[in-house]
Amino acid sequence: MDFSGRHIMSIQDFSRDELEHIFKVASEMENYVKTGSDILKNRILATLFFEPSTRTRLSFTSAMYRLGGNVLGFDDPKMSSFKKGETLVDSIRVIESYADAIVIRHTIEGSVTLAAEYSNVPIINAGSGTLGHPTQAMLDLFSILREKNTIDGLTIGILGDLKFGRTVKSLAYGLANYDVKLVFIAPELLRMRQDVLEDLSEAGKSIREVSELDEIISDLDVLYVTRIQEERFPDPSEYEKVKGFYVIDRRTLKSTKEDLIILHPLPRVGEIAKDVDSTKHARYFKQSYYGLVVRMALLSLIMS
Ligand code: NCD
Repeated sequence: MDFSGRHIMSIQDFSRDELEHIFKVASEMENYVKTGSDILKNRILATLFFEPSTRTRLSFTSAMYRLGGNVLGFDDPKMSSFKKGETLVDSIRVIESYADAIVIRHTIEGSVTLAAEYSNVPIINAGSGTLGHPTQAMLDLFSILREKNTIDGLTIGILGDLKFGRTVKSLAYGLANYDVKLVFIAPELLRMRQDVLEDLSEAGKSIREVSELDEIISDLDVLYVTRIQEERFPDPSEYEKVKGFYVIDRRTLKSTKEDLIILHPLPRVGEIAKDVDSTKHARYFKQSYYGLVVRMALLSLIMS
C-alpha cells in the first residue's frame, strides 16, 4: 500500500484496509518512541496553526523529531484573523519549497482543501472549522482497537457537542467502516448535523440519538466524551444554555459495563471530573500517546 505524497484531507478518503495498514504501522512505530529513528532524517515538516492547539501540534512535532526529522512553522492564534484565499495559497506556494509536508489547522472549512489543491507537497488536515479532523479520528479508532482488541461488535457512545465538534464527525465517519452500534448523546441544541446523519444512514449505520447519558450508559463499550465548543457559538447566550450539560464523575459510572472505556480528544473543560482519571475506565491520556504513534505512522508513510 503506497501512501507516499498523499494528502490527508478527510477520514472519508480512507478505506478500512488503508486504515488498518496505518494502524499496523502505528504499532510498529511504538518501537521507536523511546529509541528514536532516522526514518525521516533530513525531512522537514511545516506546521501552520491558525487556531490554538496543544496536543495536535506537539504530537506532530514530537512524531517528526522521533523519526529524526525537523519541524518549522507557527502557532500564533492571532493568525486566525489571516484571511483565507490568496493569502493562504501564496503561503503554501512559499512553504512547499521549505518543507516536505505541511500540517494545517484552520478555522474556515474548506481552507485546508484549498491549500491541498495548490500544494506540491502533502498537506495534512489537522482540523478545519467544525467539519473534520481526520488524524484525530485515526488515533481515536486506533485507541479503541488497542484498548478493546476490536472495533467490530462494539456499542459506541459519542457525547457532547456533536454540532460544532469536528472530532465527533470524523470519528463517526471512521466508525462507519466497522460493524458498530452508534449512540449520539447530545442536548437538543447540539445534535449531530443532519447531512452527517444521512451519510451514516446511507452507509447502513443505525444510529440512536438521546440526550440523557443515563438512558444508555449501561449499553456502552466505549464512551467518547467531547467539550462544548464555546468559541464556535455564534450566540453566547446559546452557550450558556448548554454549558455544563454533562459532567461525568464516579457516580455517573455506577451502572456501566465493567470494561467500558472512556475516551476524550482533550482538552476537557469540566465534562469529565478528575475523580474519573483513576478509574479503570479512563483511557484519555493513553489516547494522546496513541496519537503520537499514529502520527509517526502517517508522517513516515507519506514522506518516506
Ligand atoms: C480537538 C479539536 O481541535 O477539534 N482537539 C484536538 O485536536 N485534540 C477537540 C477540541 O478542541 O475540543
